[in-house]
This record gives sequence, C-alpha cells and structure tokens, in this order.
Amino acid sequence: MVDLKIAIIPGDGIGVEVTAAAWEVSLAAAAACDVNLAATAFPWSCDHYLETGAMMPADGIETLRDFDAILLGAIGWPAKVTDDISLHELLLRIRKEFDLYANVRPHKLLPGVTGPLRAENIDILCIRENTEGEYSGAGGRVHRGTAEEIAVETSVFTRHGVERILRYGFEMARKRRKQLASVTKSNAQRHSMVFWDDVTRQLSAEYPDVEVRSYHVDAIAARMIMFPETLDVVVASNLFGDILSDIGAAIQGGLGFAASANIDPIGRSPSMFEPVHGSAPDIAGKDVANPIAAISSAVMMFEHLGHTELATTMSDAVARVCARGIGGRSSGSSCGTRRITDEILLEITR
Ligand code: NAI
Ligand code: MG
Repeated sequence: MVDLKIAIIPGDGIGVEVTAAAWEVSLAAAAACDVNLAATAFPWSCDHYLETGAMMPADGIETLRDFDAILLGAIGWPAKVTDDISLHELLLRIRKEFDLYANVRPHKLLPGVTGPLRAENIDILCIRENTEGEYSGAGGRVHRGTAEEIAVETSVFTRHGVERILRYGFEMARKRRKQLASVTKSNAQRHSMVFWDDVTRQLSAEYPDVEVRSYHVDAIAARMIMFPETLDVVVASNLFGDILSDIGAAIQGGLGFAASANIDPIGRSPSMFEPVHGSAPDIAGKDVANPIAAISSAVMMFEHLGHTELATTMSDAVARVCARGIGGRSSGSSCGTRRITDEILLEITR
C-alpha cells in the first residue's frame, strides 16, 4: 500500500539534479522507516514550453490536486524562455490556484557550515504572506513615455489574509520557542501596516503563551545580522518576507542550504516544497550544485505530511554530514552533488 503520493516537478537546470538527489535520499529514508512512497514526475519546464507552447498542460492544476504534496526543483532558463512566462505560468499558478498562502523558510545554521556571521546559534523561521499585500498586482501606468507618466502600485491587505498568516505564525511559534516577531513599517505606512499591528494585537489575546514583539522591517533586517540568535519565528508581508528571507538564506550559509515550503495550512490543496534557489544556469550539469536545500525541502514536506520519523531520519543524516564539513560552502559547493548525496545516503543506511 502506498502511504504518500508525491508529484515531482524537477523543472530546469540544477532543479533536475537536486530533485533527483532529494528523491534518492527520500526513498532510502522511507525504506528505513517503513514508509511507502510513490512519485510521479512531470516534465514541466522551459524545454517543455519550447516543445508544447505551454509550461504545463491546461489541466495541470487538476492533475496535481490528486497528490499529497508537490516537490519542485527550480523553474527558469532565461536563454530559452523569458522569466515572466516561466515563473507566472507554472510556479505562480500553482501557488495562486492552490491558495498556498504561507511561504515558510527555516534559516538554521547547521553545525559544520560556515556562514558569514560570527553568531552560531541561528535558528529563525521566516513566514511570508504569499498571496496579497505588496504583490497583489493592483495598479497601473498612464501617460507612458511622457513627462507626465504615472505608475501606481497599490498594496492590498485584507483582514482574511492578514489574520490567517498571523495565526499561522502564532501556531508555529507555539511549536518552537514561543517568540513571534511581527514585521511592519507602521511608522511610515499608516494604513496597511497599522492594521497589521492591530490584528497582531487582537490575535495575541488568543495566544497568551506566545511572546509577541512588533518590529519595523529595517530594524529587524539589522537585527537578523547583528543578533540573529534573538529571533525565533518572524512573520511578515509578501514584500518584507521576501527580502528578510533572503537575508535568512545568506546567514545560514547561502542558497545551497535554504529550503522552503508553500503551505496551505487548511489542507484543501497539496502544499509545494522547493529549494529557495533557482536553476543556476552557470553551474547546471557540472555536478557542483549543493543538494542540501532540496533535501531539506523534502524534509519539510514529510514533516508537513505528519511523517515525523522519516523527516527526522533525513534531517539527522544531513546534520551529521554537515558536521563533518562535507556540506560545503554557501554557493559553489566544493564537494559536489553526487558526493554530498552519497554521504547522506551512507548516514541513513549506516
Ligand atoms: P539562482 O538561484 O539560480 O543562482 C544564483 C547563484 O547561486 C548562482 O551563482 C548559482 O550558481 C548559485 N547557486 C544557486 N543554487 C545553488 C546550489 N544549490 N549550490 C551551489 N550554488 C548555487 O538564481 P539566478 O541565477 O538569478 O536565476 C536563474 C534562473 O532561476 C532564472 O530563470 C530565475 O528566474 C530562476 N529562479 C527560479 C526560482 C524558483 O524556481 N523558485 C527561484 C529563483 C530563481
Ligand atoms: Mg526572493
């Protein structure tokens, strides 16, 4: 009997290499934990676009709905297809049509990994609102090309959207060190951000066990670098979360280590798990991509699906390999995709 049905979308460039590594490790760990995994791979990518004229078939979303989760590599190959097409017609469609409203990125500096900071105890969970806010797309341009040209981009914050992402932040904090940092810029943005602060305060009454602090985005950006060990769960709007989670990826050793999840916390749709990095055309096909970000994304997937033992088996193996100094540096990992994957497989079967 199959326990979990996973859709794999390797995508482009190193996405193909790192998802292959992540699945190999998943299968080995699943065998050790008596979990039966079944995968279906979908070739949706820039090459697929060149062959068929579409990044995914018209019924692609309906096809994915049958799976427990989606494991994605990376989408994009600008020399073949422009990024606005490849990104919007595949990745953003999945996020939007499945309403995967929580973008979750753990920024943990693993022992043995050299980050750019002196701090060693970095363990931050960034939660970014994934559906509205500054990226809602409301706006327009008039009088193009003239001296009178005007561009307007309006942020949209709804009580529904703000409340559900903050609630998710409180829930995550409850499972961790019970500290929630809520990010705004309410001194300068007097409407949306003051509203965000209000909702934070209202919800905090329901979570008396969670210590909540509000930070301005510029102050918390500095704090992530100066005192990262003082932060636990960070919850932010679409734009602020996007930027802060790139700082997070940098301080955890770089893109080779940064995993992410696009989650529907209500469980109506399959959630999607992917490394933060892109297709890295500069190193694709050279066996140098670090697979740890993709493997850690698979760990998040199994955690989300309730297979804790499987997730822990994998994350423990990754941690032991990194502790031996094999995980490599941020980008341009020195050990190579195959070598790192083999070392992790060895730790699992040992
Ligand atoms: P990128 O993340 O692909 O690469 C940035 C730099 O980091 C490159 O020098 C690359 O070699 C290095 N790097 C990335 N992942 C690495 C890994 N696992 N191990 C070692 N080094 C690694 O970003 P870039 O070059 O801006 O974008 C390339 C393509 O990927 C574009 O088409 C872009 O739109 C797409 N992209 C897709 C994403 C996704 O599918 N979620 C996210 C980011 C970019
Ligand atoms: Mg980003």
